[in-house]
Amino acid sequence: MAAKSRPIIIAGNWKMYKSVQEALAFLDNFSPIDDKNKATICIAAPFTALSSLKMKCQEKGILLGAQNMHDADEGAFTGEIAASMLVDLGVDFVLLGHSERRHLFHESSEFIQKKVLAALNAGLKPFVCVGETLQQRDEGSMEEVLKEQIESSLKDIPEDSRERIVLAYEPVWAIGTGQVATLKQAAEAHGICRDILKNLFGEDAADKVPILYGGSVKPDNAEALLQEPLIDGLLVGGASLSPETFSKIITCAHV
Ligand code: PGA
Repeated sequence: MAAKSRPIIIAGNWKMYKSVQEALAFLDNFSPIDDKNKATICIAAPFTALSSLKMKCQEKGILLGAQNMHDADEGAFTGEIAASMLVDLGVDFVLLGHSERRHLFHESSEFIQKKVLAALNAGLKPFVCVGETLQQRDEGSMEEVLKEQIESSLKDIPEDSRERIVLAYEPVWAIGTGQVATLKQAAEAHGICRDILKNLFGEDAADKVPILYGGSVKPDNAEALLQEPLIDGLLVGGASLSPETFSKIITCAHV
């Protein structure tokens, strides 16, 4: 794979899968970091597995992430988790604004923006997800949707924190459907996201933000996606659940 200007990130999103025992067994069978590895490997695990996974992730050089959090420091928010609680467990990053949060749990970009600020304040790295639905794409409003999601979710981010953000473009119609975006579709959307970021953060700061592609990434399409110059890494759902499959995807990032 040709060298890229930004660090390559390959992140797994386990969603609501894996008991603590299953999560630990995954790591026992997963050793992706070798001499050829050029990517930062990340796993976003369920809350319940985070504390058990921390030590093993650290030993293997894997960044550990959560899949959501609340923006408040603490308070009467039954069922929620604060950024400081994640930091307490040794968590490195947090997925925010995943399409399942936006669509199934009706999270607005305004709410996500508060979480991004809280994550940054707590020292976490926010992985902010954006993407259009099939209907929005068919109606020709993809660009408008991405603009709203990026500008509102990343509003008022202090200048000195901007480079800690990771953006993930995940077309909703490609998530969990087996229907990966074509290289042309992915490249076009990544170009749009990068331009929106440049407008918002300025060229230099925007240049430092990696933009990942997510949505039905599998071992047989990962290499081609990573060859695309505008794609800085991958956010992998279903295919990150098995150590063998996830390792195959990571091998595609070998330089
Ligand atoms: P998928 O999920 O790889 O299973 O399509 C991606 C994601 O939801 O982040």
